[in-house]
Amino acid sequence: MRMYDVIMKKRQGGTLTPEEIRYFVEGYTKGEIPDYQVSALMMAIWFRKMTPEETLELTLAMRDSGDVLSLDAIRGIKVDKHSTGGVGDKTSLALTPMVAACGVPVAKMSGRGLGHTGGTIDKLESFPGFSTSISTQQFIDNVNRIGIAIMGQTADLAPADKKLYALRDVTATVDNMSLIASSIMSKKLAAGADAIVLDVKTGSGAFMKAEEDSFALAREMLSIGRMAGRQMAAVVSDMDQPLGRAVGNALEVREAIETLMGKGPDDFTELCMTLGTQMLLLGQVAQTESEARAKLEESITSGSALRKLAEFVEAQGGDPAAACDPSLLVTAPLVTEIPAPCDGYVRKIACDEIGICSLMLGGGRENKESEIDLSVGMVLHKKVGDAVKKGDSLATMYASDAAKAEAATKRFIAAYEIGEEKVPARKLIRGIL
Ligand code: URA
Repeated sequence: MRMYDVIMKKRQGGTLTPEEIRYFVEGYTKGEIPDYQVSALMMAIWFRKMTPEETLELTLAMRDSGDVLSLDAIRGIKVDKHSTGGVGDKTSLALTPMVAACGVPVAKMSGRGLGHTGGTIDKLESFPGFSTSISTQQFIDNVNRIGIAIMGQTADLAPADKKLYALRDVTATVDNMSLIASSIMSKKLAAGADAIVLDVKTGSGAFMKAEEDSFALAREMLSIGRMAGRQMAAVVSDMDQPLGRAVGNALEVREAIETLMGKGPDDFTELCMTLGTQMLLLGQVAQTESEARAKLEESITSGSALRKLAEFVEAQGGDPAAACDPSLLVTAPLVTEIPAPCDGYVRKIACDEIGICSLMLGGGRENKESEIDLSVGMVLHKKVGDAVKKGDSLATMYASDAAKAEAATKRFIAAYEIGEEKVPARKLIRGIL
């Protein structure tokens, strides 16, 4: 087989065979096929698209390019959750202890973030001493003992995807439905769960800005997962403004803790309930949506979800006291209010711009080597639909550097559209598939 012929076939709109897909994925992973030929193929795929069968084969080939984790040693139905990401998305931090407290084993691999805030692992490191560098055996033992463990993604999980994603990033070929779906699902399938709940975001702070594209991506990933023999569900949720109120690593951990105390923002609490319901149904610890919801609510009112978070933090070397007392988390030295520039109603918040403000404060990574400042970020007091008076605080900003705070404040104010006419609050849950 020749790579030239594979590129030509796709350029002309042909359908690649499973052998051709395995050939280029394996050859590229081993370094036998050069970047320039795979770039050309990615561009041909971008224009010509892939059939569902080709997309599944690409997913499986990338899954099989490295370690495929077996979670068979863990009792029960293992349910994973994946979010396509967004601003203020701290869902895993609150949701995983909730579902674990309800009896669904959580064995999750998470990543670090490249972008406006850290990933789940960075956020968890706000607990002094916490580590996700645990062995696979300890990971399995912790889940069997306390029902929850989160480990860092191993370097050898879907290495083909790692190479291909980096290449797509610099060749303008990221935004193709089949390529995104296969990239995400290859990692999820390699991580070994029996069932997967997807949280596909839609709006200005999401990968998919248009709602119909988010639904299409959700359907594509559901179909891959089901063809690969997994139980699947997906929720499409709003990311046209930050989720909850906190943006920034330790601030998001604090908000997740408050949510487990029953004092979280309504939208974030509702998203945890909606995703948790799907996880409990797939995990077969509830038979109906109302039964699942009641169990999740009980995990909050009884304190069992918060206790589960403390147990989990302690099992991975962190200070469990911080799980019940967020004042023990790192705090930033400079705290200022961001004033509203005029009277009116918040009509829009450019979600991606709020993410950039967090990045400017040092809360995210510009590149893989950047150090994250876990303490910085913002807590929003006004969201879409809220009335504001000139000088009201739009948000509290937490910073370590005055010059960065000043620049981020200007950008933050510019991200808010305030007008005379009231607009309705945004609908959070757009659909469940
Ligand atoms: N996230 C991934 O893991 N892969 C993509 O292609 C896009 C988002």
